[in-house]
Amino acid sequence: MCGIVGVVSKKQIVSNVIEGLKKLEYRGYDSAGVATTTGDGIKNIRTIGKMKNLVKALAKTSIEGSCAIGHTRWATHGKPSLVNAHPHVSHDNIAVVHNGIIENHLALKSFLLNSGYNYQSDTDTETIAHLIHNILLSEKDLLKACIKCMKMLHGSFAMAVICDDMPDKIILAKNACPLVIGIAANEKSVASDVSALPQSIEHVIYLEDGDLAEITANSYQIYDESGQKVHREKFRPHPNSFSKGKEAYDHYMQKEIYEQPKVAQLAMSGRIENNRVTDNFISHDLKMVLKKLENIHIVACGTSYHAGLVAGYWIEKLVKVSCRIDIASEYRYRSPVVPKNALFITISQSGETADSLAALKFAKKSGYLFTLSVCNVDNSAICRESDETLLTKAGIEIGVASTKSLTSQLIVLGLLTLKLAEIKNIEPRIVKKMTKELSTISAVLSQALHQSKKVKALAESIANKDHVLFLGRGQHYPIAMEAALKFKEISYIHAEAYAAGELKHGPLALVDNNMPVITVCPNDQLLDKLISNIEEVKARGGQMYVFADKTCNSKIKNNNHIDFENCGQFISPIVFNVPFQLLAYYVGVIRGNDVDQPRNLAKSVTVE
Ligand code: F6R
Repeated sequence: MCGIVGVVSKKQIVSNVIEGLKKLEYRGYDSAGVATTTGDGIKNIRTIGKMKNLVKALAKTSIEGSCAIGHTRWATHGKPSLVNAHPHVSHDNIAVVHNGIIENHLALKSFLLNSGYNYQSDTDTETIAHLIHNILLSEKDLLKACIKCMKMLHGSFAMAVICDDMPDKIILAKNACPLVIGIAANEKSVASDVSALPQSIEHVIYLEDGDLAEITANSYQIYDESGQKVHREKFRPHPNSFSKGKEAYDHYMQKEIYEQPKVAQLAMSGRIENNRVTDNFISHDLKMVLKKLENIHIVACGTSYHAGLVAGYWIEKLVKVSCRIDIASEYRYRSPVVPKNALFITISQSGETADSLAALKFAKKSGYLFTLSVCNVDNSAICRESDETLLTKAGIEIGVASTKSLTSQLIVLGLLTLKLAEIKNIEPRIVKKMTKELSTISAVLSQALHQSKKVKALAESIANKDHVLFLGRGQHYPIAMEAALKFKEISYIHAEAYAAGELKHGPLALVDNNMPVITVCPNDQLLDKLISNIEEVKARGGQMYVFADKTCNSKIKNNNHIDFENCGQFISPIVFNVPFQLLAYYVGVIRGNDVDQPRNLAKSVTVE
């Protein structure tokens, strides 16, 4: 999604803004730009395509300044083009970068056109620049003008505004999109993501909805929407917020797949002792909630939704607590009925996904006992909005496609399932056995990664196909769904997932000798049923590939299969997900795709 960076300092800082924007590249974007005050009119430079184009364009100019804002744009209003790229400037005096969507921009635009403003772009952001310019004609103070402007805007926004007449300050405003201030002694910065702030910052401040702020090199002040000063807490930035780069890997996605054994250790660390989930894994308040819990609603998007689906299988099977899992954008608008004694869980890597955040806000008013989030980014909007957060501790994820996040989410949800069973005093012996099994996850993931050569060979044989089907049953059906999602977003090949038992109810019509069908085959109580489904595909000439548990080898009569060590039934979905990530990665690389920033996609989807 769009990214914002701004720096105000005593020294020249355009290159710092560029460095910050480069750190936001991973989020996906189609154009980029930077603007600075000079005291002699705003200087603005924008390019379409990747950041390297902006860097090249800048090298040909002498643009410098000590107060600058920059942006990476992911088109929402108006196609990706030079005129639509941010910053947007009004009368060489006001420059604005903006994330989000201004819903009433057409009405405001019509007023501004009637007042003589000329538009260069199709964006809603240009309206903000002209509006502030217009208000400044009578207001004279940039902060006051921004407060007035913010009151007139409907929608979601995070924005940074500079004014050449007041060249040493940046005004910030936030509503429903993330914005964070970075504080250092003689320099203040702003970004839509902590990772884009300069690493030299000493503290960060997360702005809240309705906040405005004025930052200068030596000061900062935050205001509420009526212009009253407000206090917001300062935090030390977490070292995990900053990326260490690709290291020896070719791509971030590859690095993040291979990091998973380590990520698993971090997600587990301090959370299991003597084959028991530790008491401090959850708060006393949550423990009280779990005691009387009768229902769970889990809400998330994309890969995080798939984590929720797996957790639903675990919780209902072991704890017998009813669990409903929804896609966030569906949940809010389906008039959900909140059952008795229900817990609401939001799962999100970024903690900023607009649909999940909106669902959480909706749930908070709907009568749940408690709201819990499972989240990777501490202090993100979803964490701040939830009663409690279980952090997944996966570290910053740069690849747009979620990989290590899912593994860490599943581990945390697995721990929660075990804790819930313990609190409800269900099957202590089985819970202990499952806890032991979960403790082996890091080693088992390393073993699974050892099969990468075989997965690569499979990738070579299907990389030229147009369609692929993924099958799974039971708690592995969400893994097939995740496999299809990862495959389509990285390879751009059409992929679909089916519950294997559903095949003969329609999708079998697609199967012929040109259709690869890939199934996940654990050794569980559904094995015989799955083998029948495999036979159904083979009887229609389909190209069947099986990711199988080694211990069911003798039963599967199929030439194309890759074996994995038996890992136990509880953690099996976490383990079988890994070869599917590798498959998507290798096919994407073979096809020459940008696997870290797949086309049309963005990380952290902050608009609904
Ligand atoms: C897929 C992917 C997305 C995200 C989804 C939710 O690879 O990355 O589907 O899972 O946008 O994002 P978070 O987890 O940040 O809420």
